[in-house]
Amino acid sequence: DKGEFRHYMMKEIYEQSSVISACLEGRISETKVLTSCFGAESEFLKDIENVHIVACGTSYHAGMVAKYWIEDLAGIPCSVEVASEYRYRKVAVPKKTLFLTLSQSGETADTLAALRMAKELGYLTTLAICNVPSSTLVRESALTLLTNAGPEIGVASTKAFTTQLTALLITSVAIAVENGLSAEKEQELVQAMRSLPAYINDALAQDAHIKVIADRFANKHNALFLGRGTMFPIALEGSLKLKEISYIHAEAYPAGELKHGPLALVDEDMPIIALVPHNDMLDKLKSNLQEVAARGGELYVFADKETDLHNEDNIVFTEVPKVDRILEPIVHTIPLQLLSYHVAVVKGTDVDQPRNLAKSVTVE
Ligand code: M6R
Repeated sequence: DKGEFRHYMMKEIYEQSSVISACLEGRISETKVLTSCFGAESEFLKDIENVHIVACGTSYHAGMVAKYWIEDLAGIPCSVEVASEYRYRKVAVPKKTLFLTLSQSGETADTLAALRMAKELGYLTTLAICNVPSSTLVRESALTLLTNAGPEIGVASTKAFTTQLTALLITSVAIAVENGLSAEKEQELVQAMRSLPAYINDALAQDAHIKVIADRFANKHNALFLGRGTMFPIALEGSLKLKEISYIHAEAYPAGELKHGPLALVDEDMPIIALVPHNDMLDKLKSNLQEVAARGGELYVFADKETDLHNEDNIVFTEVPKVDRILEPIVHTIPLQLLSYHVAVVKGTDVDQPRNLAKSVTVE
């Protein structure tokens, strides 16, 4: 039932605040991550020295964010790979490596095949972050952390992604605690997680404004998404969403790569979507934006007002709430979902069931 919404995708975008609460429920206290959420065998957390994350599509993008979190907070190496590559190569597994899969459906053929292969390779254990409790992935993994997003009907993944990120944040902090994260820092991160549902609602408040921007976007044939740090995977996710439902060709680059090629694409016809959280990379990103502006590129900036980008003549500005650094990738996802949704509606595409795609990719 779509309720008051025209499409399942929009209903699911709007559910994110409540499903993120459901994902956090019982997994954090006021001050700590509750490791009991990984089941009786949470002992494995003490032994992890490496993490391999394997997934497809949007779930892979969630894994890319987790790499930044795990290496930053826990200080242990983490690699991320798409399942269709992982399963067909010889993988070197360092000792005491956690094998972590991400999947909304738990039925993605390549992810399941990767898990079955990994089980023969001597990993420490296998953990699935998944939305469907009865799925094959959950049944075949040693450990599970459910995302609790509820059924996702729209082919374009929205609430499944932000709850995956929430579950990954819980997991990253749990691993970090075993690797020297202070109780004070843990408490700070847990407090930030508690404020996440409210920030999601703040981000959703830009819906009407984004709808107006979408009108300008609908006649574009290309788009370039830019971000740095955890915003790079969010740029990839934003570009995937736009491709998937509005059939506009979009690419995403880490902003620092501009000069290494994509700058050649920039002219008056190329919209640039820049994700500009207020952190220590702000100045670097601003100079990347100048490079684009100097070539006539049309700039769409998603940032908070303190970045001082909202009064620039040549920038179409969308406000994103200022949040703790750790929450930036989750909160910045929301306006990009809304943008692709509204562009698709203007273009009249089948939002919930885009051409050529299936919700669950159960064949190779
Ligand atoms: O069910 P899964 O999370 O394993 O699915 C993986 C991808 O097929 C999926 O995320 C796909 O990329 C989405 N349609 C993106 O919106």
